[in-house]
Amino acid sequence: LQQTALKDITSADRTSSLNDLRVKYLGKKGAVQGLMKNMKNLPADEKPAYGQKVNKLKQELQKALEERKESLEAAELEGKITSEEIDVTLPGRRPSAGSLHPLTLVQQELEDLFVGLGYQVIEGPEVVEDLYCFERANIPRDHPARDMQDSLYIDPEHLLRTHTTAIQMKVLEEQAPNDIKVICPGKVYRRDDDDATHSHQFTQMEGLVIGEHITLADLKGTLEFLARKMFGQDREIRFRPSYFPFTEPSVEVDVTCHVCGGKGCPTCKQTGWIEILGAGEVHPHVLEMAGYDPKKAQGFAFGVGIERVAMLKYGIDDIRHFYTNDRRFAKLFERFE
Ligand code: PHE
Repeated sequence: LQQTALKDITSADRTSSLNDLRVKYLGKKGAVQGLMKNMKNLPADEKPAYGQKVNKLKQELQKALEERKESLEAAELEGKITSEEIDVTLPGRRPSAGSLHPLTLVQQELEDLFVGLGYQVIEGPEVVEDLYCFERANIPRDHPARDMQDSLYIDPEHLLRTHTTAIQMKVLEEQAPNDIKVICPGKVYRRDDDDATHSHQFTQMEGLVIGEHITLADLKGTLEFLARKMFGQDREIRFRPSYFPFTEPSVEVDVTCHVCGGKGCPTCKQTGWIEILGAGEVHPHVLEMAGYDPKKAQGFAFGVGIERVAMLKYGIDDIRHFYTNDRRFAKLFERFE
């Protein structure tokens, strides 16, 4: 019995089968208990020796069971550790993270560029006084130029700013008669029907430089730098005469087409040029209203549409893509960050 029992125990390969063996040999109806029962049939003088033998067997089997249990448990634990091991050298799975909006990317790029030229970035409220949006920009109440910008009034004196010029007119008043070098980025609003190229809300960035003898040549150098940084080193720019109430002279600025390089293609409607912004020398009357002496200080201003730059730069064909929050559109710009 001892031999078969020990063989059974050492060949048990799971702790659960050890339990069965414990019942089989050491249980109440087990084999060892059976031997004990035989004792009553023995002569009295043989009983003590027999009892001792059975007890010894019982202890040995208990010991063997215990040992086997320990080694099996150790092996099972070992197996569990290896099977559940984590390979830390495997490439990880990236959690999907958000990315910067293309308008933010372009605005940041423009800001970096101008900060590098010594400009300050100034922002302001989106609801502004009519005074700074129009009056100070040389657009009095009865002026036909008010029609150039369909506006959204909150009350007779306040409106959603139609251009970031509203920020600049405030800066002018605050800084007079000192020199100024600022860019003013921000959202602007117009009463417009939305289509592929128009939105009732879009983003502008205007620049304003005031000082002694700041001329159109300074403006041209600055905008050439801007065009080349944004669209490529071999870009050229040209000025076309235009009209804005707050600048005199006023210009419309074109840049050579970044798609065809100026030869003519569908993007530039075969002209080789693409209009990117409006600009000019600050009107003397605007300077005067803000507290400057136009004989002592002059300056230039320009206003660029962030959407327009982003559309040209990334080849986006519909302004509404910027506002409809399609994940597929947003994901395209992850690599530009
Ligand atoms: N404020 C003009 C607009 O919104 C842009 C502009 C700014 C033009 C500065 C000239 C100078 O259209």
